[in-house]
Amino acid sequence: MSANPYGFFDDQAREYVITRPDTPLPWLNYLGQDEFFGLCTNTAGGYTFWKDAKLRRLTRYRYNNVPYDLGGRYLYVNDGGTVWNPGWKPVKAKLDRYECRHGLGYTTIAAGKDGLEVTQKMCVPPGENLELWQVTVKNTGNVAKSPKIYSYQEFCFFEALNDMTNYQRTYSIGEVEVEGNAIYHKTEYRERRNHYTLFACTRDISGYDTSRDAFVGIHEGLHEAKVPFSGKAGNSKAFGWNPVGSHEISLHLEPGQEETFAFILAYVDHTLVKFTGEKFTAPYVINKTVGRAIVEKYSKTGAVDKAFADLKGYWDENLSHFQVESPDPHATRMANTWNQYQCMATFNMSRSASMYETGIGRGMGFRDSNQDLLGFVHMIHDRARERILDIAATQLSDGTCYHQYQPLTKKGNAEVGGDFYDDHLWLILSTVSYIKESGDKGILDAPCGYADRKYGSDSEKETLLHHLETSIAYTMRMRGPNGLPLIGHADWNDCLNLNCHSTEPNESFQTAGDVGGSKAESVMIAGLFLYAARELSGLYSFLGREADSDRIAADRKTMLDIVESVAWDGEWYTRAYDSQGKVIGSKANPEGKIFIESQGWAVLGGAGADNGRARQALESVHKHLYTKNGIVLQQPAYSTYHPEYGEVTSYPPGVKENAGIFSHNNTWIHLGWCLLGEGDRALEYYHSICPSNKEEQIETYRSEPYVYAQMTAGKDAPCFGEAKNSWLTGTAAWTFVVVSQGIFGIQPDFAGLKVDPCIPRGWPGFKVVRKFRGATYQIEVRNPKKVSKGVVSVTVDGKVVAGNVLPILPAGTVAKVVVELG
Ligand code: BGC
Ligand code: NOJ
Repeated sequence: MSANPYGFFDDQAREYVITRPDTPLPWLNYLGQDEFFGLCTNTAGGYTFWKDAKLRRLTRYRYNNVPYDLGGRYLYVNDGGTVWNPGWKPVKAKLDRYECRHGLGYTTIAAGKDGLEVTQKMCVPPGENLELWQVTVKNTGNVAKSPKIYSYQEFCFFEALNDMTNYQRTYSIGEVEVEGNAIYHKTEYRERRNHYTLFACTRDISGYDTSRDAFVGIHEGLHEAKVPFSGKAGNSKAFGWNPVGSHEISLHLEPGQEETFAFILAYVDHTLVKFTGEKFTAPYVINKTVGRAIVEKYSKTGAVDKAFADLKGYWDENLSHFQVESPDPHATRMANTWNQYQCMATFNMSRSASMYETGIGRGMGFRDSNQDLLGFVHMIHDRARERILDIAATQLSDGTCYHQYQPLTKKGNAEVGGDFYDDHLWLILSTVSYIKESGDKGILDAPCGYADRKYGSDSEKETLLHHLETSIAYTMRMRGPNGLPLIGHADWNDCLNLNCHSTEPNESFQTAGDVGGSKAESVMIAGLFLYAARELSGLYSFLGREADSDRIAADRKTMLDIVESVAWDGEWYTRAYDSQGKVIGSKANPEGKIFIESQGWAVLGGAGADNGRARQALESVHKHLYTKNGIVLQQPAYSTYHPEYGEVTSYPPGVKENAGIFSHNNTWIHLGWCLLGEGDRALEYYHSICPSNKEEQIETYRSEPYVYAQMTAGKDAPCFGEAKNSWLTGTAAWTFVVVSQGIFGIQPDFAGLKVDPCIPRGWPGFKVVRKFRGATYQIEVRNPKKVSKGVVSVTVDGKVVAGNVLPILPAGTVAKVVVELG
């Protein structure tokens, strides 16, 4: 049994099973994998959008509601006057049984009350722009029942910000049509939109509602909605105000009898399906040809079951590229399933839509999405390729980048600020990791162009490689008085705003301040540069371009010498220089003496490798920053606001960037320990932030135990150990790098698959199945001498291979690999 009173991992089924609806926070899952997405909590809360949570939101959700999670894919059951929801909310009637299974791309909620069981299984089929809820209602009692089931969703007018702010307009624009079992939400279709939302049932309905006022009431809440409590659909037609979709299903079930049907929520866009028919078939009557075909498709016997089966096949394939069997249950479970699954979510969502990101603020982040790719490249190469080129195209010709772009338009914007002088370097990491994984060098010649230039054709656009060179040159050019890279608005740490100097509470730290002419420098960017330059130099060398490789290596050497001469504080690397040239992250500072990011990046970039500083820096992290819940970002936490440091000093001690445990940057230290061959420490640190390892302290931890959260409160906070901002965090990708490449040591490389594990000394070994460049490597690692690191022999299908890089084998080959450590 699980130590968690709210649920448990069903590893076999690849599901997290929630057995109580009143979880410490809403526990979320995502539906969708391609372009149509939904958020779905364990009480069926959430919403749906196509491609872009801001510009194409299909259903409504009110963030930070009371209770937190209200509004979603609701089913109301009226069983002889007793009203309840299988997902418990919104009515919150006492259920005899409740179970939510969050699976890969689907969620199943099943509940029972008074001899009636309702199961609601939700997913977005691969390749489709729609979501399905398969509903089964079963009479488990011994008397006949005639329950009524009401579906309920509130439609969104597509542009989510306007939808939740501009009621003087939105209350007058809502339009719907009902045809048979299908509700068409067609607001603004008469003017500039060529799309509508379809909400249909595959079974005959006995009534419907499309007006929220009629279904819920004016003074009522969702928990006391009029229609389900009266047991009588109003057949209401929304005209303005708030259109909703509700179907009434009247059933008659003998004891033991059950019925299964489905609801379809589809985004129908005539430009996508290349529909050439008339937009209207009569005045005000929209052309429903495409919508009808969808309803027909999923009304056929077996169609919905097939959708779920396709989804399972899709995930079996995705996950088959990396599967491990190891002595550690947490690392095994997370690496095989949940970590990779979260990587898909961060790849798709970047930082746009979660329980903490409203889908209207931060779209696709430049640095975020580049890092997200590191955990995704092994799954679906084509999508990774497209993403890299999209991101690159939002770089400007001088090397700076738009910090984010909207997924729908792919156009960069500066709404959350600009001039973050680390952004461009992450593009090198994502590109090189993609090439190592896929072997597709051709991507370097792909046309991208710069966001501030106009091009007549693709052939005029600068290539991706040009962008990588621009990025290197940019950091080399934009340096400060110590020779370190300028920080600009901030580096990875958004809140280290050394040029902001804000004294005005009404402005955002992210956009205020002037970076022009500033001297503030970042040691973290210097470390990142060392890493990026080594990657690019290695790429050139692989391409046989030694002169270019040497040129980049020389830049790296310049930076390395600077780091070693100006950024070593005696026991660790400093963090930055402020705009007045004063050091940050030094024993000379009263607070913020030691920061995590510069230790991580100096070490990963190769600083301190020859002089013992790398190890010393990590030992200092251990001494000053490590806790059982992970590594805090810096110490001592800032107790007062410093305008010259910016937002980092605005947070209460122990949260977010002010000495919170920011899981993302923890992973760089994990990799650092792997580099140094300390497998016991790597796994101990890995466990410290691993969500699956938090079930025993779930009342404190509160967030989902199956995905990483952005941060956990640090030791300075009263709620030490409490996690926040789950799902959309760079931790997903970086932890997959840690566990798959650092600990298990399976490292894609230009010329083959390198194997260089770093494991706890006590492990006898482990096994990995890795698909790489079309071949399957069944790798067994043996550790007879109880070491942490060091490959002494490798055989592939019984033949000895020199070194520890497995050769690239013909596609389709299955090879047995034995690796011995010693
Ligand atoms: C927040 C930071 C956060 C960042 C994300 C800032 O506005 O305050 O804590 O990490 O945005 O970009
Ligand atoms: C969250 C942001 O999405 C990410 O880009 C940033 O690096 C971290 N916060 C740290 O500030």
